[in-house]
Amino acid sequence: MTVASRLDAGGFTGPDYPLAGAIPLNLMASKGPTRSGERGMMKHKITLIPGDGIGPEVTAATLKVIEAAGIEVEWETINAGADAFEKHGQYLPDELMDSIHRNRVAIKGPISTPVGKGFSSINVALRKALMLYANFRPIKNLPGVKTRFENVDIIVVRENTEDLYSGLEHVVVPGVVESLKIITAEASTRIARFAFEYARRHGRKKITSIHKANIMKLSDGLFLECVRNVAHLYPEIAYEEMIVDNTCMQMVLDPQQFDVMLLENLYGDIVSDLGAGLVGGLGLVPGANLGEDCAIFEPAHGSAPKIAGKSMANPTAMLLSAVLMFQHLGESEKASLIASAVEKVYAHGKARTPDLGGTTSTTQFADAVVQHLVN
Ligand code: NAI
Repeated sequence: MTVASRLDAGGFTGPDYPLAGAIPLNLMASKGPTRSGERGMMKHKITLIPGDGIGPEVTAATLKVIEAAGIEVEWETINAGADAFEKHGQYLPDELMDSIHRNRVAIKGPISTPVGKGFSSINVALRKALMLYANFRPIKNLPGVKTRFENVDIIVVRENTEDLYSGLEHVVVPGVVESLKIITAEASTRIARFAFEYARRHGRKKITSIHKANIMKLSDGLFLECVRNVAHLYPEIAYEEMIVDNTCMQMVLDPQQFDVMLLENLYGDIVSDLGAGLVGGLGLVPGANLGEDCAIFEPAHGSAPKIAGKSMANPTAMLLSAVLMFQHLGESEKASLIASAVEKVYAHGKARTPDLGGTTSTTQFADAVVQHLVN
């Protein structure tokens, strides 16, 4: 089955939760996620990776809300990264990979990667090992969160498997290092199909392809060529191209001009954080890593070591990642319930974690969401 026909086979049936814009449901329609239990009492089996830094705190807050929403889940909790190395002698334990292959769906807290030394990114390794080729991040204002811009509603679609994240670096001679940027027609076409198919199914009007093909004529040139070939198949969707440096300026001058942004891996990483800044910060932006066989949902933010262990982290990004996950699992009603409880907390204006200028702790924020679930 081709990527396009698999996408066509997907359900895309959930209600359009405004933040998430309803991500592709049942992407892996031929191989559904795992459930257990009797008919009518179905329990989702989901792999849970708490991560490190603020990961375990935002995870605990999210589990509390999921439980209060009455969603039946059998969690398989297995960590990755430095914590896992201490316990299992592996940064990415076989047990974890088996669990994700079995359950097809995972939710994950952030995992730290040492800077300039040490082991390679576990996040990148997971995405590559499971061929989670599409990184999907909805960037949208939340009601009641004051930011410089209103009416920001951007979907960032980032290629997740190649580019400079190939990890191919070597010392040519002392003092000279080469880092290889890999761009293939296959991966570029695949991510373009994903972005255009998403736009078509969710009534998005425009795709902006971001590049630096004026300088990287071959690599970014190939990416653009592949995207243009796909764009022809979607005449109803406006298509434009923008050089990445200009894009960053445009985003902070007039972010409302963007609808769906399509980017290679590195530009997508940078632009996601920039986008998060437009709507109140990294604590608010959820994400999904989607492939044909499985999906991992995780916030856009990292492990925020400076605030770890202090119950200062904003759990919203993780909570909204869970919303995306339950939409994906076909639990649209429960997903909307959690999403609107989060929105009510913000609209109410009282509970604010320190990143948004308040004093509410991570656990107090989760309690506030639970309150709004029932009221
Ligand atoms: P970061 O996202 O952890 O932090 C950037 C800034 O945002 C910091 O000021 C932090 O305090 C704040 N922040 C992030 N999430 C927040 C939340 N939920 N609530 C309140 N404030 C929040 O990015 P940084 O500092 O560049 O990276 C830290 C570590 O995280 C690194 O080891 C990096 O490799 C890792 N990382 C992991 C990711 C993942 O697991 N997917 C993604 C990005 C970074």
